[in-house]
Amino acid sequence: MSEPNLAVDFGSDRSYIDAALGAACETLPPMPRRLDRAVRYALSGPGKRLRGILVAASYRAAGGGGNVYGLAAAVEMLHAYSLAHDDLPCMDDDDMRRGRPTAHKACGVPATVVAGVAIIPIAGAAAARSVRGMYGGAPRAAPIVAVLMQAAGASGMIGGQLHDLIAEDIPADSLEKLERIHRAKTGALMAASAKVGGMAAGAAGPAVGALGSFGADIGLAFQIVDDVLDVTSSSDALGKTAGRDAELGKSTYPALLGVNGAMDRAVALARQGCNTLQEHNLLSQELRHLADLVITRTH
Ligand code: IPE
Ligand code: IPE
Ligand code: MG
Ligand code: MG
Ligand code: MG
Repeated sequence: MSEPNLAVDFGSDRSYIDAALGAACETLPPMPRRLDRAVRYALSGPGKRLRGILVAASYRAAGGGGNVYGLAAAVEMLHAYSLAHDDLPCMDDDDMRRGRPTAHKACGVPATVVAGVAIIPIAGAAAARSVRGMYGGAPRAAPIVAVLMQAAGASGMIGGQLHDLIAEDIPADSLEKLERIHRAKTGALMAASAKVGGMAAGAAGPAVGALGSFGADIGLAFQIVDDVLDVTSSSDALGKTAGRDAELGKSTYPALLGVNGAMDRAVALARQGCNTLQEHNLLSQELRHLADLVITRTH
């Protein structure tokens, strides 16, 4: 991959996404106090906002020029719910996330379980509201929400999460099996992020497909690097417990290919994603830079 492009800086995207997340928290539906607290806790963690940035950069690559940050924030809400549930005792049983106690450590298990589920329709409504706000009467909201819900659902993220847990007992012994798990649990939402960015910009089917394929490839690369960092980095640097995968007996890329083999695969996937975009004249500097970030990140 190329050297990191210093001309591209996603800092302002990050700030706008944070602001949109904050604004969404101002309009949460009424709910019991304990639940409200857990929803806000899950949504307020300081993440990298990579999926939201992928929405915004894909939108711009497809020619969009409006305010897409409400949609980007909606995707980050789905991601935040997935993290709160991922950390639960019945899943990865983790104490630290985004440099602070996990949601269930701060708010309790029952409130966190319910908050996670409650965030799904909150995110769907936020996505629909945001797209309607961008386009008035144009019928773009329903297909966008459908793509997000499908990605978060049984054949995507949440199905992948179950297979990830099953693979603690019956290890994924082939690259194909592991790739299927990682593409579902992490790749699906990243593919959807890129796709909905394109859809919000009014891109045609083939362009949306290319963006989705790019998102899926860098999503898989992202999870491979996450597996690698779990081995090579520290809890302080990551803001979550390093070494947890080995403790849990997770099926991971470094376990199957070693750290170097796993990184080679991540680099190849990032390149493959960029090639797909190039073939469709969609490889903006920003998206190339995002692909670079996924494989060079240190946390
Ligand atoms: C963590 O995602 C979960 C994975 C899919 C590996 P991120 O590393 O994007 O988490 P945040 O949003 O920055 O906290
Ligand atoms: C999480 O994968 C995937 C989802 C949250 C969907 P991990 O379990 O590897 O994520 P971390 O390492 O806890 O962030
Ligand atoms: Mg997990
Ligand atoms: Mg985990
Ligand atoms: Mg991990």
